[in-house]
Amino acid sequence: MSVQIGNIDLGEFPLLLAPMEDVSDPPFRYVCKQHGADMMYTEFISSEGLIRDAAKSRKKLDIFEYERPIGIQIFGSDIEHMREASAISSQAGPDLIDINYGCPVKNVACRGAGASLLQDIDKMVAMTKAVVEGTHLPVTVKTRLGWDDNTKNVHEVALRLQDVGIKALTIHGRTRSQMYKGSADWSLISDIRRDPRIEIPIFGNGDIDSPEKAAAWRMEYGVDGMMIGRAAIGYPWIFREIKHFFKTGQHLDKPTFAERIDACRTHLVKSIEWKGPKTGVFEMRRHYANYFKGIENFKEYRMKLVTAGTFEELEDILSEIEHNPRFDNPVSTVEI
Ligand SMILES: Cc1cc2nc3c(=O)[nH]c(=O)nc-3n(C[C@H](O)[C@H](O)[C@H](O)COP(=O)(O)O)c2cc1C
Repeated sequence: MSVQIGNIDLGEFPLLLAPMEDVSDPPFRYVCKQHGADMMYTEFISSEGLIRDAAKSRKKLDIFEYERPIGIQIFGSDIEHMREASAISSQAGPDLIDINYGCPVKNVACRGAGASLLQDIDKMVAMTKAVVEGTHLPVTVKTRLGWDDNTKNVHEVALRLQDVGIKALTIHGRTRSQMYKGSADWSLISDIRRDPRIEIPIFGNGDIDSPEKAAAWRMEYGVDGMMIGRAAIGYPWIFREIKHFFKTGQHLDKPTFAERIDACRTHLVKSIEWKGPKTGVFEMRRHYANYFKGIENFKEYRMKLVTAGTFEELEDILSEIEHNPRFDNPVSTVEI
């Protein structure tokens, strides 16, 4: 059965790219889309920044036609500012607006935004209602299981937010206190999905990092789709690998070394196109280690890549790597 968010048709069991600050920008989204992400989100954007017209927040509203369907994710602590941010974001032309009620980091959660709303469901409901009223687009929410082990209240959250009009809910199977520690527990997510009162799609999130796990958790937890974050960093092939495994029960071949270089180069080119030569080159540095994770004897090249200052230098290095017989048939020692 096809999954619908408002009138957006996501097909059967969609795989979503998670919003990730400083990662899921347009260049990264480009390579993930190429490799099978069914829906994507921007990095979270501060409602205060949008209202102040802060350049950094505004820039994050950039979206492109080929990215559709795409959601803009906003966060904040002030209900009226979130309503305004919802309207401002809608003008950028996304397919939906997503609210972040999951961010655990101190300078978000301790300032009354992100996961901290899990401690005040009445306020969360009022904020969600304001965001829904602020836009003509479908509104979705991303959150966690609860604040801590003693307050796993996401089931109540799901029902109450559905009542005020959200069109889908993604749940990361950790509490705020867990941050990213321990392992994600999807059992509560499954309970919510199986609750007959729930009519909206429920997406599971947290720790999906292989086709086997995706297939096993799909069966076990019965969710409507999955959101994938960290496993896609430097490995956008995760989407197509999971899809292939669902369809055939077989593993798709791992990307060749040439494909890794190609994806890395595309990411770099898109990064420069969108950020300009200086920032584009600089911010790409955090990605090289991921694209070549587990490749033996790669350190020397990694050092070269992260110290090169221009696109031309990087092109030379990538082409040297491409033609180095040492990497003719490299085997990654890391299983994804
Ligand atoms: C670097 C990084 C940045 C993140 N930024 C955001 C964000 O902006 N908005 C959000 O809702 N979640 C954010 N998250 C959480 C992810 O969306 C996701 O919920 C989490 O990583 C668990 O999924 P995974 O195990 O597939 O990575 C971030 C995670 C990481 C690792």
